Amino acid sequence: MRPLPRLYRDFAEWWPLLSAPEEYADEAAEYTRLILETVPDAREVLELGSGGGNNASHMKASFELTLVDLSPGMLEVSRRLNPECEHVQGDMRSVRLGRTFDAVFVHDAIAYMTTEEDLRTVFATAFEHTRPGGAALLVPDAVTETFEPTTDHGGHDGEDRALRYLEWTWDPDPVDTTVRMDLTYVFHEPDGSVHTELDEHLCGLFPRAGWIRGIEDAGFERVRMVALTGDERRIGSEGFLGVRAD
Ligand SMILES: C[S@@+](CC[C@H](N)C(=O)[O-])C[C@H]1O[C@@H](n2cnc3c(N)ncnc32)[C@H](O)[C@@H]1O
Repeated sequence: MRPLPRLYRDFAEWWPLLSAPEEYADEAAEYTRLILETVPDAREVLELGSGGGNNASHMKASFELTLVDLSPGMLEVSRRLNPECEHVQGDMRSVRLGRTFDAVFVHDAIAYMTTEEDLRTVFATAFEHTRPGGAALLVPDAVTETFEPTTDHGGHDGEDRALRYLEWTWDPDPVDTTVRMDLTYVFHEPDGSVHTELDEHLCGLFPRAGWIRGIEDAGFERVRMVALTGDERRIGSEGFLGVRAD
């Protein structure tokens, strides 16, 4: 397997300065609403690829969250932010917790699935962990139909350090199922020194029909695309919802 981007290995502790939890309030409210509209009594929710726990920091007000991520460093960041949530190290393609949840949520981390086969293993993981009558909500950054090359920049000041980044997403080969997100970070270290790093993220890009077919093939029913509103920061504006039959 391709190693995780350096952001989630060498620079995980810098995550909150790249992407601050406050920025996720609007979208987390929308994911919460979609889950509760579909499963009104939803209480226990599993998030696959929960990263630094930014969505979780808002969604935990409505749900009891179990958070799975591959990166020990990102789990550590999330544990500090969300000490009341259960954290588990695991790969979203293969993790099996031996229990089910009212809902399974997968956010932008699914971008790291670069083949249809990998994507389908995540759908299978989601199905295995969804109780009968429960639902899965999957929210990719982009689908083939809406993808556009973009640049973005941002970052924050911490108490003793600061970070700024430039993010450039582009598609070297429009025929395959991947795009590149090249990130350059400028680190202001606590000792006053400044350095930059380049980090290449290889991300998957799949058409809507592939998402819907794959989620159905995993066993979900009433699979549909849901339009997302109210978050200009995100590249994508849609998610996919499926229900596990009672
Ligand atoms: C952009 S971050 C997620 C941020 C998250 N949405 C939040 O609210 O903080 C992407 C995460 O995907 C995780 N990831 C990548 N591949 C994974 C895999 N195969 N299984 C589990 N986590 C994975 C990375 O470790 C990283 O923490």
